[in-house]
Amino acid sequence: MTANPETSKLSNGKTQVLPQHVAMIMDGNGRWAEERGLDISEGHHAGFENLQRVVSDLARRGVSYLTMYAFSTENWDRPEAEVNGILDLAIAVIAHEAEQLHQNNVRIRHLGRVDRISDELRGELEQAVEMTADNTGLTLAIAFDYGGRSEIAQAAARMVADGVDPSTIDEGKYAEYLYTSGMPDVDLLIRTGGDFRISNFLLWQTAYSEFYSSDVLWPDFHGEHIDRAFKSFGNRARRFGKRI
Ligand code: IPE
Ligand code: IPE
Ligand code: MG
Repeated sequence: MTANPETSKLSNGKTQVLPQHVAMIMDGNGRWAEERGLDISEGHHAGFENLQRVVSDLARRGVSYLTMYAFSTENWDRPEAEVNGILDLAIAVIAHEAEQLHQNNVRIRHLGRVDRISDELRGELEQAVEMTADNTGLTLAIAFDYGGRSEIAQAAARMVADGVDPSTIDEGKYAEYLYTSGMPDVDLLIRTGGDFRISNFLLWQTAYSEFYSSDVLWPDFHGEHIDRAFKSFGNRARRFGKRI
């Protein structure tokens, strides 16, 4: 599915093209902590605080879909204490924020594997997803134990398990079996922390996304930095392979 870009009014009365689906690779928590001589857990704590700030900011700006990369299938290979710290933070943030997000008409989704996360995190995610399922405002997709390759492989396995007739498999059918089923493709993919790589995020859904990389480390990425990313998006010529 290709998103139809909407426009939003700027404070000076001009309109700009607004990305309908924004995805973020929230990178740089470790370096943020290191620069301050803090423990890595402080970096992740600051990262989760910024996540809450950015979600309400983007909801206010009128973005319809927001996908946040919180933990990759490869992040399990980090030291156990760091991994456990991230899991605990995720549990605490969802437990604390889900009700408020629900009040704000946000629909929460989880993208990723559910068989390796702790029972407690799975419970919190399931509860938040269920509670907000009928909401009609911003869709907030939390990518946790998410990997693009794993998602694509699992989709194929599920189609086989469902006995899907191979002659009916096309791009649209395949997309129905991805975690992002029903969501439009990503318009704007933002990576903080200065790197220019996808790190196994949304490999299918970013086929024609506009990419924006910022040197700013994730805990500091908000406000004017988002303005800049949106401005850059507004100036892109999206051709989707056509001669325009
Ligand atoms: C991103 O920050 C958060 C996760 C991957 C969970 P990092 O922890 O990767 O931060 P850097 O890249 O080491 O600075
Ligand atoms: C990407 O960051 C994953 C998340 C932000 C959750 P990483 O820090 O894991 O990516 P690499 O290792 O720099 O590619
Ligand atoms: Mg990193």
